Amino acid sequence: MFTKLEAENALSQARAQTERRIARPSLPLLTNFSRSYATYQEARRHLPSGASSNIRVHAHDPFPILFKNGLGSRVRDLDENEYVDLLIAYGALILGHAHPAIVSAITDQLQNGSMLGTTTELEIEVAKKIQSMVPSAEMVSFSNTGTEATMEAVRIARAFIGREKLLKFEGHYHGHHDYVLFSVESPSVVAGLEQSPSKLPFYPGIPEEIAKTVVIAKWNDTAALEKVVRRNAADIAAIIMEPVLGSSGVILPDEDYLKSVREIADNYDVLLIFDEVLTGFRLAPGGAQEFYGVKPDLSCFAKALGGGAPIAAVTGRRDIMSMIGPGRIGYGGTYNGNSMCLAAAKATLRELTRNDDEAFSTCTPSEQESWKD
Ligand SMILES: Cc1ncc(COP(=O)(O)O)c(C=O)c1O
Repeated sequence: MFTKLEAENALSQARAQTERRIARPSLPLLTNFSRSYATYQEARRHLPSGASSNIRVHAHDPFPILFKNGLGSRVRDLDENEYVDLLIAYGALILGHAHPAIVSAITDQLQNGSMLGTTTELEIEVAKKIQSMVPSAEMVSFSNTGTEATMEAVRIARAFIGREKLLKFEGHYHGHHDYVLFSVESPSVVAGLEQSPSKLPFYPGIPEEIAKTVVIAKWNDTAALEKVVRRNAADIAAIIMEPVLGSSGVILPDEDYLKSVREIADNYDVLLIFDEVLTGFRLAPGGAQEFYGVKPDLSCFAKALGGGAPIAAVTGRRDIMSMIGPGRIGYGGTYNGNSMCLAAAKATLRELTRNDDEAFSTCTPSEQESWKD
């Protein structure tokens, strides 16, 4: 039991602590969200659901908090509440907000033309940097978003292998084109059997005919995958996956699972696509493929690549990628490889690999100890 004096001391210490927290401008008590609320109501009158991407309102009941600026690791909302930003724009801001290297790279490039509409030396330079970092990147092709990168990769795989179906896993998200919007969520009540999971469209509006081009498999289950691939081998062009599942909470691949998938793909002459939009330039300099030592045939990168600028890349085997070109495999986009985003990517990759990839080094035990305080 506390004595009365001890209880009073504990209480006054707690009060003092709270006052110190309130006094520190970086840790205010979050009490007021009125401007976020009012602005969201206005947004709903002009933008469908009040946002340009469903995830920005989905699961933000009763209304989303709206940010007005960010610097480094912090963001400020419309009501002047300040936060440590763990959202980091869904993974894009690997260097935080308004990193000086990115700000100056974009500013300098804007003064020399945001986009030139031709191949540029900067494009070759960033491609070379990616090749030096990503183990399977024998060639590189730029686009703007993760959605575009996976869409292009799927088409490249289909054209190269000459089959139409794509195998994707339950719970994996690969962007917003129809070919991959199946079983992004697989609620257990309708998920089906392990060896023949239900195929669940994520939205209305996806043609039935597209569903016929998609085969669903359970992830992290080698035996189930082998059965599904064997059954559909004559039709499957590629297996696509997030090598670390980040879109259904973070689920690591079981030991040697990625190696087993690589073997299954090789045994049935099916291409393996790693969607490294979340893991790329984050898990290791060369993404999950470097971290786990498994080389896919094609890979997709976005998010961290541009440190906040919209740029993406498809990379892969030279014999596959070199089939892209006029009259062969189609690839295009007005904004692909634009100089402004390439400048941001160059700055981001330079910062990430500074001092022998220091940003990726595992922390020492003494650093871990100091973080506990
Ligand atoms: C694994 C993965 N792939 C693809 C995408 C699509 O990328 P984007 O939103 O840039 O189109 C995302 C986006 O969250 C993703 O997490």
